[in-house]
Amino acid sequence: MLSRTNFQKELNGKKTDLFTLRNKSGMEVAITNFGGRIVSILVPANDNTTVDVVAGLDSIHHYENETYYLGALIGRYGNRIAKGRFSLNGETYSLAINNGENALHGGSAGFHNQVWDAEQINENTLKLHYLSKDGEEGFPGNLAVTVIYTVNDDDSLEIDYKASTDKTTVLNLTNHTYFNLNGDGSGAILDHLVTINADRFTPSDETQIPIGIETVEGTPLDFRRETKIGERIDAENKQLEIARGYDHNYVLNKKGNELSKAASVTGPKSGITMEVYTTEPGMQFYTGNFLDGKMPGKSGKPVDFRTSLCLETQHFPDSPNHPEFPTTTLNPGEIYKSTTIYKFLS
Ligand code: BGC
Repeated sequence: MLSRTNFQKELNGKKTDLFTLRNKSGMEVAITNFGGRIVSILVPANDNTTVDVVAGLDSIHHYENETYYLGALIGRYGNRIAKGRFSLNGETYSLAINNGENALHGGSAGFHNQVWDAEQINENTLKLHYLSKDGEEGFPGNLAVTVIYTVNDDDSLEIDYKASTDKTTVLNLTNHTYFNLNGDGSGAILDHLVTINADRFTPSDETQIPIGIETVEGTPLDFRRETKIGERIDAENKQLEIARGYDHNYVLNKKGNELSKAASVTGPKSGITMEVYTTEPGMQFYTGNFLDGKMPGKSGKPVDFRTSLCLETQHFPDSPNHPEFPTTTLNPGEIYKSTTIYKFLS
């Protein structure tokens, strides 16, 4: 059981708290407005119990000290920007470097470490708002971001993102929840069965920056048919070596920016399946290869190597430096919109 008081703190003059959303069938999602982080998702299982399918921590204090981006809203730019540099309208911008020589997930003071304004609209819905000031972590423009979390009655969690800017900027918003469909603290996710609706992915260089787009055909990255994660994760393959496992952006099979099915994952011990739907063109499949057991998880077990996985819906990494990728530029007067749904079946 999470203790709400462990989440009630004041940071930079703003109050943090823990909010609980519920639907009719007993699905429950706990979210803190510190980083807009999903702390737990209780999915109703067959035998009248619930299974918590999310890796998380039990207090704000622990979230302040973690480096995995557990459950967090990521911005302004989810994933990497090469050497933290990009140009817009002839001007070059330099971001904080926080991942080798690159910028990752919006910098150390990214959205995951900000206190969002929160309003619980009803039992099902939480509205979060954050104003990212012009120049924050090196990004141009005052960016107003609204994220709405809704727990729907079909046992899905919907995340709706909206943003606008007063100066041309780049953004790539996502959520970095780590899932274990067998239950938080139940061990490695290597037995999970995964399907990804993508014929192609963006292979990366040694620093995990994309070097193009390639087919998954004939590689251990092919998840077009349901496959156990552990079957090929340690196969001899340059891409798997670089990332110490799966940590790759998939180019989703879709026509435009319609909401479409990106992936599904099943935990064989619980029998729970999660389906992922998104309007985004890409999805990072990350198998927790950099989790190192240094943080105590809310389950009582450390958050350890490959004990949970992320399905981060997104635009492609380093898009500002790849004009051939779908654009991540947002101009004044435009509204950025994105939706992702995690739906649970048991
Ligand atoms: C990245 C990983 C990174 C992780 C941070 C993922 O989105 O792809 O390379 O280590 O985030 O926890």
